[in-house]
Amino acid sequence: MKTAIYPGSFDPCTNGHLDIIKRASTMFDKLIVVVLINPLKSYSFSISERRALLEKATMEMKNIEIDSYDGLLADYFTQRSDVDVIVKGLRATSDFEYEFQMAHTNKDLNPRAETVFIPASANTTFISSSMVKQVAMFGGDLSKYVPSVIHKEISTRLKAEFEEKKRLAALKQDL
Ligand code: PNS
Repeated sequence: MKTAIYPGSFDPCTNGHLDIIKRASTMFDKLIVVVLINPLKSYSFSISERRALLEKATMEMKNIEIDSYDGLLADYFTQRSDVDVIVKGLRATSDFEYEFQMAHTNKDLNPRAETVFIPASANTTFISSSMVKQVAMFGGDLSKYVPSVIHKEISTRLKAEFEEKKRLAALKQDL
């Protein structure tokens, strides 16, 4: 039995992520999608919100487990002795340098942690969580970019976040 993990921020989960999840799930007996933290990023959704969105988006899929971990991916890999490989999606050459560095760092921290890359499908190469956030915050239509079961939830949540940001910024100017 071969088990892979697909790590990421998933802030929020997009159709690009779902494309990799669907394809990786056919290559391995089990795929664990794990929500992790990049401490250098600021997130719109909490870990539990990101997990819940992934759970809804993959509800129909049989061999998927959703997990989260507040620590190094290499340590998660060490703790999960059932995991064989890390899967990452590559959208364009711009992703390559960063992903290559992470793959080497993870292998350096845990020599068992091999990474395999899956090229994003052509129709999802331009989709990113940050692009989705901008479209949603300005009220654009997200339906083509995020899984249909979660698109309304993501739009509502991000619009509310942006309105709150604008309200706080206006308050600051009043001071
Ligand atoms: O979707 P992202 O933001 O590109 O995912 C990056 C993520 C969260 C997978 C990466 O930052 C990560 O593995 N974070 C956990 C801490 C860690 O192990 N960092 C890698 C050492 S460079």
